[in-house]
Amino acid sequence: MTTTAPAPAEGPVGRPLDRVDGHAKVTGAARYAAEVPLPGLTHAVLVGARVAHGRITAIDSTEAERAEGVLAVLTHENLGKIAAQPPLLPSLAGSVAPGETFFPMQGDEIHYAGQHVALVVADTYERALYASRLVRVSYAEEPSVTVIDQGRDQAYEPEAIFAGFIPGRTERGDVEAALGAADVTVDHTFTFAANHHNPIETSAATAYWEGDRLTLHDTTQGVTATQHTVAALLGVPHTRIRVIGHFTGGSFGSKAMVWHHPALAALAARKVGRPVRLALTREQMFVACGHREEQEQHLTLGAGKDGRLVALRHHKLSPTSPFDHWAEPSLGVAGQMYACPNYEGVYRLIRANTTTPTFMRCPGEATGLFALETAMDELAELVDLDPLELRLRNYSESDPASGRPWSSNGLRECLERGAERIGWERRAAPPARDGDWLIGLGMAATAYPVYGPNNPQRARARLYADGTAVVQAAVTDIGTGILTVMTQVAAEALGLPVERCRFEGGDTDLPNVAAAVGSSGAGMVSAAVHAAASALREQLVARAVADEGSPLHGADPAAIDVRDGRMVLRDAPGTGEDYAALLQRNFVPDVEATGSWGPPPHDAPFASMTFGAQFAEVAVDPVLGLVRVRRLAGAFAPGRVLNAKTARSQLMGGMIWGLSQALLEATHMEPATGRWANASLGEYLVPVNADAPDVDVDFIEVQDTVVNPLGVKGVGEVGQAGVAPAIANAIHHAIGRRMRKLPITIEDIVSGG
Ligand code: MOS
Repeated sequence: MTTTAPAPAEGPVGRPLDRVDGHAKVTGAARYAAEVPLPGLTHAVLVGARVAHGRITAIDSTEAERAEGVLAVLTHENLGKIAAQPPLLPSLAGSVAPGETFFPMQGDEIHYAGQHVALVVADTYERALYASRLVRVSYAEEPSVTVIDQGRDQAYEPEAIFAGFIPGRTERGDVEAALGAADVTVDHTFTFAANHHNPIETSAATAYWEGDRLTLHDTTQGVTATQHTVAALLGVPHTRIRVIGHFTGGSFGSKAMVWHHPALAALAARKVGRPVRLALTREQMFVACGHREEQEQHLTLGAGKDGRLVALRHHKLSPTSPFDHWAEPSLGVAGQMYACPNYEGVYRLIRANTTTPTFMRCPGEATGLFALETAMDELAELVDLDPLELRLRNYSESDPASGRPWSSNGLRECLERGAERIGWERRAAPPARDGDWLIGLGMAATAYPVYGPNNPQRARARLYADGTAVVQAAVTDIGTGILTVMTQVAAEALGLPVERCRFEGGDTDLPNVAAAVGSSGAGMVSAAVHAAASALREQLVARAVADEGSPLHGADPAAIDVRDGRMVLRDAPGTGEDYAALLQRNFVPDVEATGSWGPPPHDAPFASMTFGAQFAEVAVDPVLGLVRVRRLAGAFAPGRVLNAKTARSQLMGGMIWGLSQALLEATHMEPATGRWANASLGEYLVPVNADAPDVDVDFIEVQDTVVNPLGVKGVGEVGQAGVAPAIANAIHHAIGRRMRKLPITIEDIVSGG
């Protein structure tokens, strides 16, 4: 695997620093939510509904209650009512964020298979598991709808989707007239299997009460989101709930919204008067943490003979839950990628017997861009243009949706760099052969929005008299390396070596920042950390200037630099002193500052997107239906790179997830039972090392002065979008057949897709 990183920076920011938590993770010292040892710890096991729709007619827990070690069996008959079901809000807001506006075990209705119907608490996990099998539940089953084909005729157009944040219909110009007048049209339906996140760490919460105060160890993308959601559900002031989540072992959106289990763990702990650990099984993760919904997208492109787009119509149909109008926003970025005056995007939903779908790895962009970029490849063929040239011809200098200029761009350079890295000029020649393998090249453009939080982001920085610092914000490291990156940002702003700086997160007792979702963590938190650390440095410099005992007494603060913890005159570096000397001389044990950053207003006169380009080389055996991705080359323009190593890892991981989306991932529903048929890692395929091709990650430098103080646009998800269409387009190049379904399977290659 190769990479071109930005030129090494002078200070800590940008350097390919190893993870500060790497040692703790590989030695097992890092503690996850289901590993917290507590005196008197008890264990809870969930029982899920066997039917997808209906009612509980009887629930008999006597035998379970009598089983050895059992402390409580909670059902809708004895759990008690929740205080209030908070509204659905993306957890980016940093407040309440329930996974769905339904809470189980409040009544006898069953809305989806696997819905929690009982919770068994015992003194050991094994005893709780055993007793959970003794809970007898009888159901009156009703017909269910779980797949598009069962509910097509009852689809409706919601006013808004995505927790109300995105309108159900978006239009500009006159798409009908423009399609009628277009020289060329491409019109197809694209289908997508449902997907599940499958992080390595399954969700878990450990809860205990001390009087009326609750402590929750949760595996989450945002401790504050858990705190506020559980507070609302339990009717307990959030100030009495502390949520700790130091490490999260992968998430991909499954821990962005707060699902039912942390609140259930808290309720169970209150009931038994002891700490309760509630860890979901892998199978339960398929019904208790949301999923990417099955979907169909109908895309129509209209263009002139020159390949310039004149019309884009994009309709999506997908199942949602009985409670919420949720769809991932697949039409978003696909409608903003290219200049196109006439546009119509429409979401349609089907009420289905599943949990509310949720964010999952590049939610919306990854599917919407598959339809768009596959259709663009076909358009290139129809107008006889190189696919790369077609993209450049439709390049948009501003956001076609809002008309606002991009705060920074880089798409053109990404397209050119990616083409260079994959050797795109080879595509002009007839596809190559390697024995039975036909070789194809494909490409796609990609983009991901730059999301900002709604509330100010805060951090705290403290310097001790020994010259070391601790900097804090409530962010959780979900595997991205944010603890490392924030250490670098803090060290740079304070003028300290990274070894003397420690960053702490993952605790609601720390200054509040929004959840790590939507690729926004690095941008948001670095802004707050930078503000706090800079404020502390200014405070220390001001103290030195005011101190008669300091060599810097009376100097102009603006003329002072700090390097390696030493404040010096920029023009006379021999004059100065260490932070530590200043504090020790004055008998000051520590000094502290907080900093906050408010995001740009939503009506700011620019639009922000992280752009990139994806290229794939595949080998296809058309007789056996095999596809092997040999190379992926991605070029991205994510703004300031805070750590060359972790940024590259994020993008490379995203690209491999893109390969996974293209060729592997599918959760199959059994409509007869309304249950997911392959709810295990044995049958839900995710890529392993042997599936990973040669991955080339390349950076295009762009400066963005408006998204946040450091110009960080995010690398969490843009690496995934565009990979699946690049692979599908490469397959078309190799064998001459279009793939319009994900994942692409052996059958699709053999039968013609
Ligand atoms: Mo990420 S799928 O936006 O949590």
